[in-house]
Amino acid sequence: ATDLTGRHFLKELDFTAEEFRSLIDLAAELKAAKKAGAEVQRLRGRNIALIFEKSSTRTRCAFEVAAADQGASTTYLDAAGSHIGKKESAKDTARVLGRMFDAIEFRGDAQATVEELAAHAGVPVYNGLTDDWHPTQMLADVLTMTEHTDKPLETVAFAYLGDGRYNMGNSYLVTGALLGMDVRIVAPRAYWPADDVVARARELAATSGARVTLTEDIAEGVRGADFVATDVWVSMGEPAEVWDERIAALAPYAVTMDVLRATGNPGVGFLHCLPAFHDLGTAVGREIHERHGLTELEVTDEVFESEHSVVFDEAENRMHTIKAVMVATLGGA
Ligand code: CP
Ligand code: NVA
Repeated sequence: ATDLTGRHFLKELDFTAEEFRSLIDLAAELKAAKKAGAEVQRLRGRNIALIFEKSSTRTRCAFEVAAADQGASTTYLDAAGSHIGKKESAKDTARVLGRMFDAIEFRGDAQATVEELAAHAGVPVYNGLTDDWHPTQMLADVLTMTEHTDKPLETVAFAYLGDGRYNMGNSYLVTGALLGMDVRIVAPRAYWPADDVVARARELAATSGARVTLTEDIAEGVRGADFVATDVWVSMGEPAEVWDERIAALAPYAVTMDVLRATGNPGVGFLHCLPAFHDLGTAVGREIHERHGLTELEVTDEVFESEHSVVFDEAENRMHTIKAVMVATLGGA
């Protein structure tokens, strides 16, 4: 079996397809065991540090519940209540936390920070989202896809609509390429992933047999897709002023029932990492509504609430897959 003991989980590009798939398989096993009331605790006595420079609902809760299920404890550190990023460098923080904890999760802006922590911690470091990558989300999304299709992964097609230059677009592109899937990024050209990310994806595709497509054409991009995915148009850490430009550029790429119909696949699934602006009744949403007069953004409420939507399975799977990452890297697999 694949041994990931002691490994970091920083970005998809650090893993072989076999390693990545082994985490999905382990997550499915752990999920089944929990549902059956037969979970075996493999992380008893372990301590996990959770650093969040940015907000989180799912990722934080996934780590905390997964650790508790497995008998490990967690300590939550944020920017306000710790020295991280203000008085103390990532390098020193890593060397301190590495003396006390068995693993460290980090969510923040820069991929360089999580890489720096990993270089100096001496224990596994997990990326809970950076501007560039959201690798634990990819495990959940792939697990969710396998649960909602009978097809082998290498024959599954999925299309991501929206801002392709950020964590979710980058991660979908390289994950699809790594796993030999048919992956399409559907966005205005200015919102396609950076050239180096596309180049890495094409390299991976050359060995995995993946099909990698970048297109501005929605009909072409979604045709035959088994899953359609999107993400918020403005990510955490971006200034509110960019909403104007994003709405203007990306509104045609909103996931509507017409987009799902254009797949030609009546069983098409809809994915979203969440949180989602399918309604603008939240505090942030109300501001956008007042300014732009819109009631929904990257996905319509109709799609979000439809039978196509698998977003809450996807959210639940964050927990099972993050558990798999901890169990695999801490030697309990
Ligand atoms: N999808 C995701 O990462 O959600 P949170 O920001 O709530 O952790
Ligand atoms: N692209 C989003 C993903 C949130 C889970 C962000 O970075 O805010």
